[in-house]
Amino acid sequence: MSHEKYRETLPASWFYDPLQFRRELKAIWGRAWLCIGREEDWPAAGDFHRLPIGAEQIIVTRSEDDVLHAFHNTCRHRGSILCEADSGTFANRRIVCPYHAWSYSLSGELKQAPRATESDGIRLEDFPLYRVALETWRGFVFINLDPEPAISLDQTLEPEAGYVARWPLEQLRSVRRESHRLRCNWKIFWENYLECYHCPGVHPDLCRLVPVYRTGYMDYQDAGLEQDPQRPHAMLRPGAVTWSQDGFTDLPWFKGLGEKELEAGMTFATFRPTMFLVAHVDYVRTVRVMAVGPEETELTVDWYLHRDTGPLPAAEIDRLAAFAGQVVSEDAHACELNQQGIRCSRHEQGVLLEPEDCVFEFEQWVRERLGE
Ligand code: FES
Ligand SMILES: [Fe+2]
Repeated sequence: MSHEKYRETLPASWFYDPLQFRRELKAIWGRAWLCIGREEDWPAAGDFHRLPIGAEQIIVTRSEDDVLHAFHNTCRHRGSILCEADSGTFANRRIVCPYHAWSYSLSGELKQAPRATESDGIRLEDFPLYRVALETWRGFVFINLDPEPAISLDQTLEPEAGYVARWPLEQLRSVRRESHRLRCNWKIFWENYLECYHCPGVHPDLCRLVPVYRTGYMDYQDAGLEQDPQRPHAMLRPGAVTWSQDGFTDLPWFKGLGEKELEAGMTFATFRPTMFLVAHVDYVRTVRVMAVGPEETELTVDWYLHRDTGPLPAAEIDRLAAFAGQVVSEDAHACELNQQGIRCSRHEQGVLLEPEDCVFEFEQWVRERLGE
């Protein structure tokens, strides 16, 4: 039911149908570089985290020689999961299957298969854990489920990584982490992120801080507005310097930012489908996205300061985190409302307006990846 005059969204069923979800897991989540955290999330050898990605489970750990490794959480014997906990430390630097106790080194080699004899014909070196590609970028850890990744991490990062080149990302430490389980499809989350058409109604406080958002557009150019020639890059209202309720901060500012970044007060870098980063003069925030089920998405929000920031100004961190936390909650609520309504039996497709150009572009990206 295509129409000359307007643009339609993806079919509504793509936002809840389990078969469609599986297609997307394979074609999109199975091939992209996925941000799963920071190097410091694995401080010592043997520390691990388990990550659900759709129906897959991945374990990431650090070996004795200080290298991070990612493996499928599946034993090479008969396929049991290895790791039942979401995180912890492997005892004795061994990954031991809870079923028949095959045991693996932290770098994935099979070390022992109890009672295996020569007549079984099993050579330990033929059964390492299923390895997952892992790379790091400025302290962030990415994995790729494709056994031979067709795209490089650089292709995922460029050009957006350049926007935040002046922030000392490798020297950050997370001072607050919050996780949210959203009852919505992962695409609903991204589509909400990609447009500001909802901002005037959904984010009244944010619109006071970022005046252009009141227009329903993300920037002055798209809104067709002239910017103050005295402050041509400014995004925050005059006097405000960061994202907080009053626009002010007591935290130290990052050194080395340029005039443009200081004036803007907010710089976004987006690495779809798993992460966006917002850099301010005093702190950096990331939002990580993981598709868990057709109607379930896990969000992990981190607030980072420079790791040399002295004794933690806890009250100030609370204050800053409260503001972005409110914006995240407002978006989460809007996403969940969208998810509930999109299941209507009469609703086959929605329509897109001009401020939703980026949503249209995102849906094209999804279609292309699915080979449509
Ligand atoms: S399934 Fe792991 S040891 Fe048997
Ligand atoms: Fe929003």
